[in-house]
Amino acid sequence: MKLFDVYPLFNIEIVKGLGCHVWDTEGIEYLDLYGGHAVISVGHSHPDYVEAITGQVRKLGFYSNSVINSLQQTFADKLGKACGYDDYALFLVNTGAEANENAMKLASFHNGKKRIVSFRHSFHGRTSAAVRVTDNPKIIAPINETALPVTYVQMNDADAVETELKKGDVSSVIIEGIQGVGGIQMPDDRFLQDLRELCTKYEVVLIFDEIQSGYGRSGRFFAHQHAGIRPDIITVAKGIANGFPMSGMLISPMFTPVYGMLGTTFGGNHLACAAAISVLDIMKKESLVENAEKIGDFLIRELRALPYDGIKEVRGRGLMIGIEFNESIKEARTKLLFEEKVFTGVAGTNTIRLLPPLCLSKTETEDFLFRFGKVLNIGV
Ligand SMILES: Cc1ncc(COP(=O)(O)O)c(C=O)c1O
Repeated sequence: MKLFDVYPLFNIEIVKGLGCHVWDTEGIEYLDLYGGHAVISVGHSHPDYVEAITGQVRKLGFYSNSVINSLQQTFADKLGKACGYDDYALFLVNTGAEANENAMKLASFHNGKKRIVSFRHSFHGRTSAAVRVTDNPKIIAPINETALPVTYVQMNDADAVETELKKGDVSSVIIEGIQGVGGIQMPDDRFLQDLRELCTKYEVVLIFDEIQSGYGRSGRFFAHQHAGIRPDIITVAKGIANGFPMSGMLISPMFTPVYGMLGTTFGGNHLACAAAISVLDIMKKESLVENAEKIGDFLIRELRALPYDGIKEVRGRGLMIGIEFNESIKEARTKLLFEEKVFTGVAGTNTIRLLPPLCLSKTETEDFLFRFGKVLNIGV
């Protein structure tokens, strides 16, 4: 059987990883400034993480959500403390899209309304409701089109949001902490404060998709915490279990759970919880949120200071950084990968996205800047 060919692949197979480095089948070493698309939070194959997963699977890999799994509560307790949402409740699922799907569903159960307000250039996943609120017609199939009324609004336009919420039929507003796929676009703190007020005023559920921007990446546990606000539901995935498929929703006390309202076979399974607990332990032990802030500030400063006219803007917070060029970055990114052995991400045609593991060191950052400088033909 052949593979269903939907991914344009680089001709590289990664077979080993450690910290911020990965190796291919030829033994060639790469610096990983991409983290497998913001997934690697604590570094590749961290020994504590490896031990946690292997230790757990030796005991029990899986049992269903019909019996107590105390690992879920252990994880919830640690997560509540780490992110400052001790009073919220946790529901665990498997992928980012599934977390957003459940968040919008819970909002709709809660207020009985249907319409959703989303933002231009947003990305929230590829399942039915999640893709419907994603601002990309190319990945919305006909079956997704009519099922759900959605209005896309310009980010940072509080008046436009209010015009929609006033109509009285909006169930939830969904917004990324920092837009990732959209090119590292940051909502203004003031706009987020207005958005919080508007959602409270019009009794609309405010959902923050922190799937890419959360889990320490922005230099705070969640990107929205830079604006000092609290959403009603927060969705998390990617970095939560360092590559083990897992996601979740943090749910405010205003929601009442009802048996059978939400559910999943694999969500919160023993192996996923063991992985996620070890991620939080490592993040705490190695102060990775603080590291993301410190190294991110340094990297953003250095990138902004590069003597290179082709860079239009450097955006981001912590270790979620977009380098927008005046022209296509295809050649620079290809050179970075094949000549300088550095993995990076991309957004659109002109923006390089940096989403490294949160343990990126100063030396590794300087190494990246040196290799990036070589690609741009400037000595750094
Ligand atoms: C902000 C955001 N939301 C949702 C998703 C979807 O996550 P998944 O691919 O795990 O379904 C992504 C994935 O890139 C994302 O960046």
